[in-house]
Amino acid sequence: MKTQEENLKEIVKEKYGEIALQSAEYNASTCCGAGPSAGSYTIMSESYEHLKGYNPDADLSLGCGLPTQFANIQAGDTVIDLGSGAGNDCFIARAETGATGKVIGIDFTKAMIEKARKNAEKLGYNNVEFREGDIENMPVNDNIADVIVSNCVLNLVPNKRNVIQEIFRVLKPSGHFSISDIVLEGDLPEALKTAAEMYAGCVSGAIQKLEYLQLIKEAGFTNITVQKEKPIFLPDNILMEYLSIDALKEFLASGTGIYSVTVYAEKPAVEGTKKEKIRINLADVANSTSCCTPGSGCC
Ligand SMILES: C[S@@+](CC[C@H](N)C(=O)[O-])C[C@H]1O[C@@H](n2cnc3c(N)ncnc32)[C@H](O)[C@@H]1O
Repeated sequence: MKTQEENLKEIVKEKYGEIALQSAEYNASTCCGAGPSAGSYTIMSESYEHLKGYNPDADLSLGCGLPTQFANIQAGDTVIDLGSGAGNDCFIARAETGATGKVIGIDFTKAMIEKARKNAEKLGYNNVEFREGDIENMPVNDNIADVIVSNCVLNLVPNKRNVIQEIFRVLKPSGHFSISDIVLEGDLPEALKTAAEMYAGCVSGAIQKLEYLQLIKEAGFTNITVQKEKPIFLPDNILMEYLSIDALKEFLASGTGIYSVTVYAEKPAVEGTKKEKIRINLADVANSTSCCTPGSGCC
C-alpha cells in the first residue's frame, strides 16, 4: 500500500502531467495551474516577459515569484532549478550564466521534462539539461551548484525537510539559493487542507512561514532573508467550492494569510578552506627541500 506522501506525489505528478499538455493561456486562468475545477483563480505567477532569456514556450504561468531576481547568478555558474516545469526559470538563468555556465532543471513529471527538453533543443542550448527525478532525492552529485533556484515547488513536496537537506548537499560551500514559494500564517479550514485540487494548486501543501524558515536554519544555512513577500487572495467563488457561506466568512475573519515569498540563504564556506590550502602548499615546500633542492642529491 502506498503511503500518504506517495499518494500526494502521484496527485501532483498526474496534475502537472496534464498541465504540461495544456496551453499557457489555459493555465494562466488557474491557480498554480490547478485545473478546470479550480476555475479562474487569482493568478500567483508574476510576469516574466521583461526578463532576459524569457522563452514563452516555457512559461506555463505556474510560478509564484521571480526567484532569479534575487539569485545573483554570475557568468560561468552552475545553477540548479528545482521543479523546473517547462524550463521557465532555467532559460532565464541561462541568460545569466552564459555559454560557460551550466543549468540543470529537475522535475519528476515526465511530460514536463519532455517539454523542457524540446524547448532547450529549439534554442540550441547544450548547457541546459533536464533530469527526471524527485527533488527529495536529487539526481546530482554533492557540492556542484553555485546557485539553486525554484519557483512554487517546495509547497508541493510532502517532506520539506528532505528537500532542504538535499539543497544543502548539492550546493557548493559558499553557494546560495533563491526560492519562491507559498507559505501560510495561520490555519486553513479543514475542507481546504484536505482538497486534492488545493494541494496540487500550491495552497494546502504550504506550511507556516516560521516553520519554513526554521527548517532552512536547521539544515545549516546562514544569511536567511525573505527578499519579497506578497499576500495571495483566493477568490470567494473558488473558496465556495469547498466552504459553506458561514465557513467562508469564518475563514475570511480568521486572519489566516497565504503568502508568496522569495527566500534567499547561503551554505557556509568550509571553515579554514584557504588556510588548509596554504598548509598543504607549505608542506609541499618542506618536502621539496628535503628531496629536490639543488644539491640535495635526490633529483
Ligand atoms: C507549480 S509547478 C512550477 C513549475 C516551474 N517551476 C515554473 O515556475 O514554471 C511545480 C512543478 O514541480 C514539479 N514537482 C513537484 N514536486 C516535485 C518533486 N518532489 N520532485 C520533482 N519535481 C516536483 C511538478 O512536476 C511541476 O512541474
